[in-house]
Parts: sequence; structure tokens; C-alpha cells
Amino acid sequence: MAETITITDDRTGQTVTVPIEGGVFPASAIRSLDPSLFVYDPAYMQTASCKSAITYLDGDNGILRYRGYPIEQLAEKSTFLEVAYLLLHGELPTAEQLSVWHHDVTHHTFIHENMRKRFVDGFHYDAHPMGMFVSALAALGTFYDGAKDIDDPESRHRQILRLIAKTPTIAAMCYRFSVGLPFNYPNNDLSFPANFLSMMWKVGDEYVLDPVLEKAMDVLFILHADHEQNCGTTAMRVVGSSNADPYSSAAAAASALYGPLHGGANEAVVRMLNDIGSIDNVPAFIQSVKDGQGRLMGFGHRVYKNYDPRATIIKQTAYDVFEVTGKNPLLDIALKLEEVALQDPYFIDRKLYPNVDFYSGLIYQAMGFPVEMFTVLFAIPRTAGWLAHWQELLSDNEQKISRPRQWYVGPETRDYVPMSSRV
Ligand code: CMC
Repeated sequence: MAETITITDDRTGQTVTVPIEGGVFPASAIRSLDPSLFVYDPAYMQTASCKSAITYLDGDNGILRYRGYPIEQLAEKSTFLEVAYLLLHGELPTAEQLSVWHHDVTHHTFIHENMRKRFVDGFHYDAHPMGMFVSALAALGTFYDGAKDIDDPESRHRQILRLIAKTPTIAAMCYRFSVGLPFNYPNNDLSFPANFLSMMWKVGDEYVLDPVLEKAMDVLFILHADHEQNCGTTAMRVVGSSNADPYSSAAAAASALYGPLHGGANEAVVRMLNDIGSIDNVPAFIQSVKDGQGRLMGFGHRVYKNYDPRATIIKQTAYDVFEVTGKNPLLDIALKLEEVALQDPYFIDRKLYPNVDFYSGLIYQAMGFPVEMFTVLFAIPRTAGWLAHWQELLSDNEQKISRPRQWYVGPETRDYVPMSSRV
């Protein structure tokens, strides 16, 4: 039997019955009862803002799939570029499609010289790389005439290629500027992660990359590529819904990602581990969190009420990386924190488990990235997810410009008070 929900407006006695599909019922039911009646839902806790066929997330059971494919299989068997294709096109590419995709992305990696010489060079010497990255995304759009042709599928595809291909270049450029090193141009003979790492670290002509680190970077890119309607992706959709160009929309999404409750958490985790300093201080730190003095960063999630499946993969990847780089001394503190928290009723009752950011920062740090780069590393692959959602949004006939309503709680109308009468 079809599932339905019946809503009664007790003010009028009117009722409406609508179907429940996939655990969701349409808000138009409320509108049909009274167009001036709204649902109050701060932070969209109970609101599905769109239909999406991109990423499936089951927070109670710790399941994450891109286009139906389990994240564990993709992390083990796929590459980031293949995953980006999958997110954007809905299907895994054939060998020929992958070869074209690979060629097209790697041949869009260069950026206009003015971006580096005029734009990036204008930042203060100690500018945060994520602030530079956000601004650079918006600036990039000004270099392309077609950026605003969002209704032209061919132009849309070209902007998507550019954004995916150029984000590693921009990221590395922001880093090199921040440490005063000359910019390394992209090397189109390298894989996507190897090219990024080479632009980051190459000094002179020398750069030898350990394949374990290349694979780890790619796995981290895969794990961060999409995560359905999170804060950044919602920002992408909201801004994109006004028909803004994808560069401006991606800059908005990256700004959302920058916050410490979102993509900035990986940076906050390492700072927190440094502050804790030793495993002996872990119990006291956990107590301070329980007393309300700050949060255990890298723990908890709006949707996952179980171990974040990405955290499981990242923890394994961390051990692979430490084989090459040597163990990050903060690992022991992280392991102890996890052990103590997972046995503590405060965290158990609230279903707080390690999320994607708990261990990723340890890998980044072991690979040599400064903490300021961590959120940038998140933003590079997430660009593919943002663009997949942007594309889905533009082809969804049920979508319009995003425009929520409010519950006005301010003063009633009152007369202007002259300055002389104000107290
Ligand atoms: N440490 C301590 N207590 C916590 C934590 C935490 N990390 N997370 C949630 N809580 C408590 C919170 O105080 C509240 O307790 P009470 O019911 O007594 O008031 C309860 O758990 C529910 O928390 P909430 O803030 O209502 O949950 P939320 O769904 O709004 O927040 C979150 C989700 C991710 C923002 C939050 O868990 C958090 O701040 N975590 C730390 C930051 C972090 O690691 N963020 C990365 C998230 S994953 C990657 C990404 O999204 O970018």
C-alpha cells in the first residue's frame, strides 16, 4: 500500500493527504492548505531541498555511495578523475571516454599569467591560502567570456573542465606564494594527483614522488569528491540558482567549506591535537569538552550517527602513508582520543563518531602540507561534486531561484523617533 501523510489545519478543519516517497513528502501540501503557512526549520534539519541522483548517504548505517557505487570500492579500485567523471555523467566511463576525459582535464591545467602575476601577487605575504583560493575561483571566471553562458551545454562542459583542471594549479600557486617559492607550471604528463604534488613540492627540475603518496592523495581526493547536500554544496546550489556563473558559485561553496564546522575542521583537528600535546592530557581534554569548553574537532556529523565510512578508509591510508613518511607523532594522541571518546557516555549518547576530518589532517601533515592548506586540499576534489550538483540543479525543472521564507519576530510598525527624543 502506498504510504501517505494527512495534515489537518485545525484552524479551518481542512485536510490534505499526500504521498510519502523515499521518506519525503512535498511541502506543496502545506501550500495547498494555506499559501501563507510556512514550516520553521532552522539549518534545514528536516528539509530536503532537492531531488538528487548523485550521492547516497545513510548516516545511521555509515553508508556512502557515489551514483550507487560504494565509497570503499571506489577508493580501492578507481581514480579521482574517473570518480569526477562518474559524479558528473552518472556512469563510469568506458576506456575511450576516460581517455578523452583525462586528456581534456590535463590540457586545461594552465591558468592565465595575470592570475599569478597580478592577482595572486597582490595578496599580503601571510594571506591564508584558503582565502586566496576562494578569491581566485571567483577571479578565474572573469577570464572566460563563456562563463556566463550557463544555458549552453557545450560552454557548461568547458567551464566544468576548466574548474576541475585548474583548482590544483590555483591551490599550488597559493601555497608557493605563501612560502615565497617560484610557481611550478603544470606537467601534463603526470597523473592528476602527481601533477598537483609536483606543482606543490618540485624545487628546480627535481621531483621524485613515492607511488604510495600519489595513491594516498588520489584516495583522499576520491573520499572528498562529494557528500550530498552539505553546507558548501548547498551554497553552490543556492548561488547557482540565481544563474550566477559556476566560478562565482564555486567561490561561494568554497567560502562555506572554509568554516571550522565544515571543511576547516581538518585544520582545527591538528591544532587541537597540538594543544593537547600528550596522551596524558587526553582525559582532561575530554572532560573539558563535556563541560562545554569547546568541541572535540573531527567528531560528530549532522547525518552520520555511526562511524563515517570515509574515516575508516582514511585511518588505513594514514598507516600506508606513515610507512613512507614516518609516523606523525600526533597519531597516538588521536588514537587515544578516539578510544576514550568512543567509551564515554557523552559521545555514545549523542552518537558522536570520528568524521572524515579526524585523521585526514594527520596524513596531510605527514606529507608536508602546512595546516593552512588542509581545507584547500578538501576543496580541490569537492569542486567536482559542486559542479555535479550545479549541473543537476540547472537541468531540474522543479528548481527555481532559492528563496526561503522567514518567521518575522521583530517589532510591529512604529513611528520614527527624532534624535532629540531618543534615550
Ligand atoms: N564535540 C563535542 N560535542 C559535540 C560535538 C563535538 N565534536 N559535535 C556535537 N556535539 C554535541 C553538541 O554539543 C550537542 O550536544 P547537546 O545535545 O548536549 O547540546 C549534540 O552533540 C548535537 O550537536 P549539534 O551541534 O546539534 O549537531 P549538528 O548536527 O548541528 O553539528 C557538526 C554537526 C559536524 C557541526 C558537529 O558535530 C561539530 O561541530 N563537530 C566538530 C566539527 C567537525 O568535526 N566538523 C567536520 C564535519 S565532517 C566534514 C564536513 O562536513 O566538512
